[in-house]
Amino acid sequence: MVHVLFLCLGNICRSPMAEALFRHHVERAGLADQIEVDSAGTGSWHKGESPHKGTQAILEQHGVAHKGITSRQITPGDLAKCDYIVAMDEANLRDLRQVGAVTSKQAFRLLDLVPEGTVRDVPDPWYTGDFDEVYQLVSTGCDRLLQKVREDYRLNSDV
Ligand code: 4NP
Repeated sequence: MVHVLFLCLGNICRSPMAEALFRHHVERAGLADQIEVDSAGTGSWHKGESPHKGTQAILEQHGVAHKGITSRQITPGDLAKCDYIVAMDEANLRDLRQVGAVTSKQAFRLLDLVPEGTVRDVPDPWYTGDFDEVYQLVSTGCDRLLQKVREDYRLNSDV
């Protein structure tokens, strides 16, 4: 099993969106038995909460399931377990390094996988209110991430 964890600050806007969307892609690719998807926040303020209404709305608009996702804080155990910790921005990576040691192969920003894009940090809709922009960026990033995981682990499916 390959373990993928998305990381943001509150784990209610960006990383749950990425979790739901990436899982959707993984399931459609027939790889759900080979790739496990999760998300967490560097902060704990929203522990136990469902994704933000804006994240829920945009996922529903695109037919992506999000039921059962609840906010939690990242733990040292996640660093030991996860093959990929995919951060939304540079501050998340900095905060992650306070939790424990990670390599750049294990932990990177989602948009590092989209080098032709104009931004590397996914803007935080908690402050911008722009969930559409986040969805577009996360969607492109998740496509690239699935390609990368498939290449890194030589994963094939029957689909
Ligand atoms: P997220 O957005 O990191 O994309 O989940 C935020 C959610 C909550 C807060 C900050 C960012 N907050 O300060 O409570």
